[in-house]
Amino acid sequence: MNRYKIAAIHGDGVGHEIVPVGLEVLRMAAGRFGFELDVTHFPWGAGYYMENGDFLAADGLEQLKQFDAIYFGAVGLPDVDDTLPAMKFTFKVRTAFQQYVNYRPVRLLDGLESPLRYKAQADIDFVVIRENNEGEFVQNGKILYADQPYGLATDTSVFTRQGIERIAHYSFQLARRRRHKVTNVTKSNTLIHSLAYWDRVIGEVAAQYPDVTYQKMYVDAASANFVLKPEIFDVVLTTNMIGDILSDLGGALMGSLGLGSSGNINPEKNFPSMFEPIHGSAPDIAGKGIANPIGQIWSGALMLEHLGEKAAADAILSAINAVTAQGLRTADLKGSATTQEIGQAVVAQLTTYE
Ligand code: NAI
Ligand code: MG
Repeated sequence: MNRYKIAAIHGDGVGHEIVPVGLEVLRMAAGRFGFELDVTHFPWGAGYYMENGDFLAADGLEQLKQFDAIYFGAVGLPDVDDTLPAMKFTFKVRTAFQQYVNYRPVRLLDGLESPLRYKAQADIDFVVIRENNEGEFVQNGKILYADQPYGLATDTSVFTRQGIERIAHYSFQLARRRRHKVTNVTKSNTLIHSLAYWDRVIGEVAAQYPDVTYQKMYVDAASANFVLKPEIFDVVLTTNMIGDILSDLGGALMGSLGLGSSGNINPEKNFPSMFEPIHGSAPDIAGKGIANPIGQIWSGALMLEHLGEKAAADAILSAINAVTAQGLRTADLKGSATTQEIGQAVVAQLTTYE
């Protein structure tokens, strides 16, 4: 029997509510599909930082390396400097483990209405592939003379040929398993060095995939098209910051940020990959038991797919769709179901899954 070692990190806020629900679904899937999950919990995040002075243990990355995958909620607390969670936790894990792919599906679930009044389920089905290790988010910069009239600040993006090529190849290979279309969302008309180079290298990779339709689109136009013509997208290949922003818009197209799932993937499997919802710790609703757990549960399905348990992953997605089709909704979707009730309903669907 296959056995996978999973590191579970709730993080902060709603992470404490949705990760346990996601794990219950994963355990049920394991039982149904004949594999085992060996789950170890780590108390890391902004709460841990308040007590211990860092977001994870000093040897935290070494500990995590021993696992097959990381199942993560979200980090960040209102009382903690909000420049720290990404720098000291999320980006740290993503870069240390070369999780250079951020895979974020946008798909309208059964029974849900998109805020896009004229769009149906067939119109909203694409994946945002966000470059996850470099670009605008390398935090390469400085604030100088902050309190002076001549104060200045910089953040310099970094784009490397190797970094662009690997995310491009991943995207074109993914497109071959989907509808054979890649849209590079860029802004090379104004970022005339970094994103012009990004376009050029992606163009070179595109030439190696003549069976995939390749298109370039500026991010301003792409934002409008997400809303007006989402059906034109299949694989959206984009940079770290543009992908961060557009995937929240993608979450909104599905009806709620709470539905968005993601994988921070190291495709070579040299290191564990990390699976988390696209949203943050949602302090405004934390502790009330009303957070939507679907993004977290769906992220678990992405994790199982990455581990090679495709049938179980598909079953979880079917179960989620069955639950949304029944009309069971949390408050973000104008329903009154609790986090727990959604989790129990997904588990119940899995028990009956043929
Ligand atoms: P957020 O994503 O936590 O919340 C934005 C809005 O969406 C809020 O109104 C929230 O209630 C709602 N929302 C989010 N998840 C939901 C769910 N599962 N169900 C129902 N509603 C949901 O973003 P915000 O407020 O900008 O950030 C809060 C904290 O999270 C900050 O400290 C931020 O740095 C952190 N953050 C952490 C991330 C991570 O750990 N990867 C990603 C994004 C933000
Ligand atoms: Mg984000």
